Amino acid sequence: MPAPWSLDDIPWKDFEPAKVDPDLLRIAKAASLVERNANDYAIYLCNIFDDNPEFQKIVHQWAREEEQHGEALRRWVEMADANFDFEKSFRRFTEGFRIPIDADRSVRGSRTGELIARCVVEVGTSSYYSALADTSEEPVLEKICRNIASDEFRHYKLFYTYMQHYYPKDRPSIFARLRIALGRILESEDDELAYAYFCANDEAEPYVRKESSSEYMRRAYRCYKPQHLERAIAMTMKASRLPLNDRLLRGLAWMAHRFLRWRARSAPA
Ligand SMILES: [Fe+2]
Ligand SMILES: [Fe+2]
Repeated sequence: MPAPWSLDDIPWKDFEPAKVDPDLLRIAKAASLVERNANDYAIYLCNIFDDNPEFQKIVHQWAREEEQHGEALRRWVEMADANFDFEKSFRRFTEGFRIPIDADRSVRGSRTGELIARCVVEVGTSSYYSALADTSEEPVLEKICRNIASDEFRHYKLFYTYMQHYYPKDRPSIFARLRIALGRILESEDDELAYAYFCANDEAEPYVRKESSSEYMRRAYRCYKPQHLERAIAMTMKASRLPLNDRLLRGLAWMAHRFLRWRARSAPA
């Protein structure tokens, strides 16, 4: 099945260099590397679901779409910064960051757990790109981020459908589901994004995870509005099969927004 959009659908001629936000440029560089590296996750997922050819086919299509996200961001970044050397940054990133592609069992303990974690990742990316689109005044980046956000939302629905299929077989406990969801959210501050930020922005060695992570967070977290977080929390709770009502949702979104603002402010400038 072809992807719902291609690079030719992006209105590149509308690019307005004067409207490029330098902070968004730096985090878009990091995102281009992470997205472009999706094939390693596809190999990992195909190993975990080795007896499900239908799902494997979907995973390959998913990886192609994720790689296209990387290509679209790369092209925009190259227009905004002629000195950006994608290939050099990507090589540096993939040499220093590896996921366990040889694993034959999910690092989340079960296939349902793996799919809950995948849902959480797609929730994170769909809300992240919505927040970037809402923040960018440069129209081409805004369009790219809107397209990516809608793909990520569709990916969420895809992994959610398969999670429902595997759930009756695995039945992870409520604590296991909570641990997987929370664990995956906390991992978003781990090495992958911080290291991508470091490699993409040609930072000088040595790599200090805490510093690169702060640099990244300071720029990314300021883009979030409460509505992005409300939607992300509702989707995460649904994927984890955790109970939620309107009051709890509003309370959690309020706390998450305060937390991100605090993280953005407390990161060293
Ligand atoms: Fe993506
Ligand atoms: Fe995705």
